[in-house]
Amino acid sequence: MSIIFATNFQEFLKTLNINPDHQELFTLNTDQWVIDLSRHYLNQSQLSYLSTWLEQHDFINQKAQLFTDNTLNFTEQRAVNHVFLRDSNQVFPSAQNAAMQAEIAKQNDFCQRFHKQPFMNTGKKIRHLLTIGIGGSHLGSNLVIDALQEFCDKHLTNHYLTGTDPYQLNDVLKQIDPEATLVFVASKSFTTQETLWNYQKIKTWFEQKLGSTANSHFIAITNNQVKALCLGFLDEHIFSVPESIGGRFSLWSAIGLPMRLSLGETHYQALLAGAHAMDMHFKDRPLAQNIPVLLAILDLVYGNCLHVQQRAVIPYSQRLRLLTPHLQQVEMESNGKSVDQTGLSVTYQTGLAVFGGIGPNSQHSFHQWFYQGTFLTPIDFIAITGDSQHPDFEQLLFSQCLAQAKALWEGQKGGESYQMTQGGKPSTMFLSKNLNPRSLGELIALYEHKVFSIGLLTGTNAFDQFGVEAGKKQSIAMLAAINEGAGYLDPITQHMLNQLTTL
Ligand code: F6P
Repeated sequence: MSIIFATNFQEFLKTLNINPDHQELFTLNTDQWVIDLSRHYLNQSQLSYLSTWLEQHDFINQKAQLFTDNTLNFTEQRAVNHVFLRDSNQVFPSAQNAAMQAEIAKQNDFCQRFHKQPFMNTGKKIRHLLTIGIGGSHLGSNLVIDALQEFCDKHLTNHYLTGTDPYQLNDVLKQIDPEATLVFVASKSFTTQETLWNYQKIKTWFEQKLGSTANSHFIAITNNQVKALCLGFLDEHIFSVPESIGGRFSLWSAIGLPMRLSLGETHYQALLAGAHAMDMHFKDRPLAQNIPVLLAILDLVYGNCLHVQQRAVIPYSQRLRLLTPHLQQVEMESNGKSVDQTGLSVTYQTGLAVFGGIGPNSQHSFHQWFYQGTFLTPIDFIAITGDSQHPDFEQLLFSQCLAQAKALWEGQKGGESYQMTQGGKPSTMFLSKNLNPRSLGELIALYEHKVFSIGLLTGTNAFDQFGVEAGKKQSIAMLAAINEGAGYLDPITQHMLNQLTTL
């Protein structure tokens, strides 16, 4: 990625004459979604002009790297290969292909054996899948299972242990039957403190309950096979997540095994097919109709030309309640960067913060801030229009979503000043007739390609996360300092702890 391109692009953005007053209609379709961009500060012709500029500056070749052998994760000198996981041909770049084909066969065999229950030699059928993992090792898989419950095996209940919260631990222990439970220890690094602590606690509990058969209930999903073997996992129960699959992009890998078992093969393949359809959209669509690229441009225009710092994601669907937490990691861990490929600090804005909630709950919570606050916040509204046993409820929910986008854009004049709403609040509307494996696969992949595009446009790496790695080291040192008095407690922390003793 040439930084000259990125810098010029940012300078270019500042020359734009942007305004909310246009009335141009601008809607694009994918297989499963209608995506409306009419209520934005850039109209279709401006976005088209920007796209042409990007085409003239090598953006298409940069984007194409995702679908070939690459080192797009340039700070860690790693490939980025998540798109190959949902390609039915699944031919990986040559260096990884043999290993990946073997891994895929191992996962396929495991899933086939699982569905021929009883899976364990205990004779009991597996009824509980417990995932121990955090961040990308939990969020994506949990989102899919939660959103697609109606497509999942009704005899399987999924449980999650993420942080080391005693209440979460006790809740899980109350709900699972160890004989009927498989435990997936999902950690690409197998060094994540929370995951290792949860694993040890659960393993001890299983050993107390099951004795020597406990170990056969544990599955490791990691890039650190050696450590998994050292911890005693059976080789046939260790599944690999390649280095080239980033944590926040890993639900398509072995990290998604609990999701795959819950969905069953037909729905799982439909999820992959939806993501692959979006891959092809991103790969082949002209930039002026390329939704992930256009959404990336819009975020950067808002951040660089209108000093916007955040974007809201508001699904009008309870089944998408975990989408925003997933996107917070995908977007903020990918684009929360400030150093470009040359190692210099960028002189422009990169990724926005993401927050949100479920509509209409959010209407009765923070939408006031959108209407009359002093900040500008673009919003992604997501609505599912027609797959309910209660069409009257569906229609009200859908109309509320449409009404919010309209009211925020048009504003409301008249009355006292404190009663008026400025309007000019931009939004993208995502509409689909069904929330199913295909439409969800498309939606998740859409945001993955958006964050990659923002990385290209800003010359930053969307695939590393050195910031949080630093945070992880701090928490290990802090624990030592608090526990054993080993190491140094900064004055502020020490003062807090002293105050705590006075309660
Ligand atoms: O938050 C940092 C991070 O490394 C994420 O990128 C990752 O998804 C999460 O922690 C868990 O890491 P691991 O899968 O290695 O346990």
